[in-house]
Amino acid sequence: MQTKTALITGASAGLGRAAAIALSSLGYQLILVARRQEKLTELQQTLANPCHLIACDVTDYDALAEALLARPESFKNIDVLINNAGLALGLETADKTDWQDWQTMIETNCLALAFLTRQVLPGMVEQNQGLIINLGSIAGNYAYKGGNVYGASKAFVDQFSINLRADLLGTKVRVTNLIPGLTRGTEFSKVRFHGDSDAVKSVYADCDALTPDDIANTIAWIVSQPEHMNINRLEVMPTCQAPAGLAVDKTMK
Ligand SMILES: NC(=O)c1ccc[n+]([C@@H]2O[C@H](COP(=O)([O-])OP(=O)(O)OC[C@H]3O[C@@H](n4cnc5c(N)ncnc54)[C@H](OP(=O)(O)O)[C@@H]3O)[C@@H](O)[C@H]2O)c1
Repeated sequence: MQTKTALITGASAGLGRAAAIALSSLGYQLILVARRQEKLTELQQTLANPCHLIACDVTDYDALAEALLARPESFKNIDVLINNAGLALGLETADKTDWQDWQTMIETNCLALAFLTRQVLPGMVEQNQGLIINLGSIAGNYAYKGGNVYGASKAFVDQFSINLRADLLGTKVRVTNLIPGLTRGTEFSKVRFHGDSDAVKSVYADCDALTPDDIANTIAWIVSQPEHMNINRLEVMPTCQAPAGLAVDKTMK
């Protein structure tokens, strides 16, 4: 049987890195995308299966398209696309945020995800086979203070995923929006708080958050489901987290 290929964006850290390890142990060869080449090379050296590395900013569409076109023949067919590269920047309320942070989140979480999907999809449709797993977030389902554009960008991921399903009906190409809650052991909060380690610590203190392996195991489960079954969306939270109700301000009257 031909080796299957998975393309994972954001494979240099966190959930993408854990997903790469999980899919490699399922026998997939991997196309790994992220900006930090050295992290990708380090990961490649730990994996038993062949990897093709693309050290590229996913928002540099021309470079990404060019690198993708130049992939070796043995990596031509992409069976699984994991659109994982993404980020939150800042936790200020909308009146105080940095406009550049908003742009970066929309460009990375929405536009780059859509662009790469558009690049990979024709091959999947032609093969009449494939699976796209988009990394959403509970921030796309539940509003919280400071979530603003990050939450909106993940709501885009959810709507884009389910709209792809509509377009792909009649093909065997599947699409899942995987929606994690609070997950520790990644660089997510370090990036969000621009390296402020106290702020990072306080996010994960005194609670038992999900781990990258929890999400990677979920990804391994999704890719192992039979072809007649599509997981539309899958929301996973740590037990210590819940959508705990709407806020009412009692000081405004
Ligand atoms: N951690 C959580 O609590 C959590 C919860 C829900 C959803 N998520 C989502 O899960 C995904 C992964 O998050 P994570 O926690 O694993 O974060 P992370 O540890 O910060 O990893 C993010 C990955 O994305 C890559 N990346 C970011 N911007 C990029 C760009 N412009 N071009 C190429 N690669 C880029 C980073 O690589 P380079 O820096 O090397 O480019 C890194 O590999 C994100 O979409 C996030 O929104 C995370």
